[in-house]
Formats: sequence, structure tokens, C-alpha cells
Amino acid sequence: MVPPDFDADERLTALVDHLQRVGALMDDRWRDAFLRTPRHLFVPDPIWVRDGARGDGWMIPVGRSDPYWWENAYADFALPTQVDDGAPAGDDGRGRYPTSSISQPSLVARMLEALEVTAGTRVLEIGTATGYNAALLCARLGAEYVTTVEVDAVLAEQGRTSLRAAGWKPTVVCGDGARGVPSEAPFDRVLATVAAKQIPYAWVDQTRPGGMIVAPWGNDFMTTVLLRLEVRQDGVATGRPTGDAPFMWLRDQRTAKGLWSDFIDFDAPVRTSRTGVDPHVVVERGSGVEFTVGATVPRLCRAWFDAEDDSGEATLWLYDTKGSWASVDYAPRVDGHRVEQAGPRSLWDEVEVAVAWWFRAGRPDRERFGLTVAPSGQQVWLDEPGNAVRS
Ligand SMILES: C[S@@+](CC[C@H](N)C(=O)[O-])C[C@H]1O[C@@H](n2cnc3c(N)ncnc32)[C@H](O)[C@@H]1O
Repeated sequence: MVPPDFDADERLTALVDHLQRVGALMDDRWRDAFLRTPRHLFVPDPIWVRDGARGDGWMIPVGRSDPYWWENAYADFALPTQVDDGAPAGDDGRGRYPTSSISQPSLVARMLEALEVTAGTRVLEIGTATGYNAALLCARLGAEYVTTVEVDAVLAEQGRTSLRAAGWKPTVVCGDGARGVPSEAPFDRVLATVAAKQIPYAWVDQTRPGGMIVAPWGNDFMTTVLLRLEVRQDGVATGRPTGDAPFMWLRDQRTAKGLWSDFIDFDAPVRTSRTGVDPHVVVERGSGVEFTVGATVPRLCRAWFDAEDDSGEATLWLYDTKGSWASVDYAPRVDGHRVEQAGPRSLWDEVEVAVAWWFRAGRPDRERFGLTVAPSGQQVWLDEPGNAVRS
């Protein structure tokens, strides 16, 4: 039941106007699809929010009886809709990690527009979750052109139910979206609403030549980008990043759970040195150097801490979750910063090699890089697919 003082039509129109204003929604046909898709029909009861009272990072459920739920149903935010794969890890019913969400409307709009669909385009969506994105695809293309796959059985059923309640019956499959949906292939488009570190070749294989894959791609170090890959006649897909796209990872490609400090053995013997590379440069979000380091140094994770006083000092922690770690202590106005490295890999040395390559390559922006996905795997390149960037 919609509360008496809540005008869902008004909220929906305001949201759509906002999406246009921020430049996420340019196409009138998508605008129409958004206006025919009330978001509150797809926001489950409950959503999950950080426990502000205890401030310890755990999450609590907030249901439809709470005005917060309604306020956020039409806000331009992603809302966590499941924690800990459906079994909240806290003894008190609280959850630790979001494992499903309804995506941020402006990101949804940007991704849908990036798909460049026309009437009759057949789309496979990876990550059904609430069904909101699938409903928008149905509103634009018709349900018979939409297939969506969700790995979590409970979520797949919830998504299917919400879609039906909204009047749509697309093909909803419960399964591992990394395998695509071979029984419904070929598709003209694959749209992943979950991020990949390795783009599954099945997505390329199940897209007809000339078709397109739109997917968030990244790793634990760099800002996740939205990739648009065109599938060629030879069964290879290639394309470039088009901005940021923060998403949760495909279930099999998740990072090991835990805080950064869980992966640092503070008692391990360390190798100390000094570096002339300012660690701020390496972690600049969305930069070419951040992309280079993320793309070429395998299994690299990071944590950054600014000093709480006004000294301007900071520490970058790097770790690979397998026993190697490094820390770089930045201090302003000094020539070199103290480095400690431990474990079998020398992670900061690997980062310095990547940074040196980036300088030699003329400090390219992120937009000059691209990715090719072939049956043999994926390859990052600079400027053109033949110019591979090696780890
Ligand atoms: C950010 S949510 C997707 C949002 C959704 N499209 C919507 O409109 O609400 C990501 C979803 O991907 C699902 N997922 C994760 N790994 C998957 C996989 N291998 N195959 C299919 N779905 C997966 C998660 O369970 C989660 O529900």
C-alpha cells in the first residue's frame, strides 16, 4: 500500500526529470519506458542500510512501513536488497555485505542508452535481481525480446514475481549468468548488471556478429568501468570503457571477504626501501595510471588512509589476499616515501614497473585503453587492439 501522503506518479516524474537533467536519459523512447516503470514496485521489502546507531559497518533491514523506504524508492541511489547471499551473518539479524541491489537509476539509464537498441533487438540481461532493469527493457522492447538470468534462486523468483505484477513476462532464468543462456541465444545485446573481472566468453559466443555487450569491468584495484564491446564476425569482441560503473562482482569472481587488515600479516619480515613515486598518483580514481596498474598487476587490492591530524601524511596499503602486502607512507615535501613489502611478491615494485610503463607510453588517459575478448581470454590494449598491454 502506497502511504496516503506519497504521490508515486509525482516522484516518478521527478526522478525521470532528474535523469534527463544529469544527462543520463537523452532518448525519448527510454524516457517513456522509465515513466511506465514505477520503481517502488521493484524495491523489495526490506531494503538494507548501514546501522547508523552502532556505526560498525553492519547493515539493518528497513521495511515499507518506514518513510525512509519510500523516500529512497525514487532517489537516484542504488539500494542494497539482499545481504550475505540471503542469510544475514549477524547473530542479531544484521547483515555484513550487500549481495544484491536495485541499481542506481542514472547508471541504469546510461547503460540502457549505451545498448543502442531498436525495435526487435533481443537482449540478455545478466543479474535479474529486483527485475527493475528487465522491466525497463520490456517497456522499451516488449517482453518477448528480453531474457534475464539470476544466479540466486530466491531473487530470480522475486524478480519474476515483481515483473509479472507489473504486467511483464520476459524469460527469467535461474542460473549462472557467466554461462549466458544458450537455449535462448543468439542475442543482439548482452547487458550485464553485475561486474566482471574476466568477461565470460559465453557472452561473446551468444551474441550475433555486429551485436554488442555492455558490461561493468574491472578488478579490486581500479575504478570499475563500463565497457561497450562489439562482437566481430570472427567471434572476438572488442571495445573501450565509457565511464565509471560501480557494481558488485559476478558471484564466482568476488574478492575474498574481509577487511584489508585481515590480509596483512603485521609480524611478517619486511623489506624496506624508499620510492620517488607519489602514491596519490597511483590511486587517482578514473585515471590512466590507476587503470594501467589495475590492468597489469594481478590480484591487487588497496586501502588508503589519510592521517587524522593536519600533517598531510597518508598511507597506501596494497595486498593480494595470498600473503603479499606493501605499505607506502606518504609525507609532503619529502623526496622519497618509505616502503615496506612482505610476502612472496613485492607488490610496490610491481606497481612501480606499471607506472614506469605508463610514463613511457606518454601518460595515456583511461579512454585510450580497450579490451578484446576471445576464446583464449581477454587482453587489454592501448589505442588499437594490436597494441597489447602486458602484465
Ligand atoms: C546489482 S544487482 C542487479 C540489479 C538488477 N538488474 C535490477 O534491476 O535490480 C546484481 C545481481 O547479479 C546477481 N549475480 C551475481 N552473480 C551472478 C551470476 N553469475 N549470474 C547471474 N546473476 C548473478 C546477484 O545475485 C545480484 O542479484
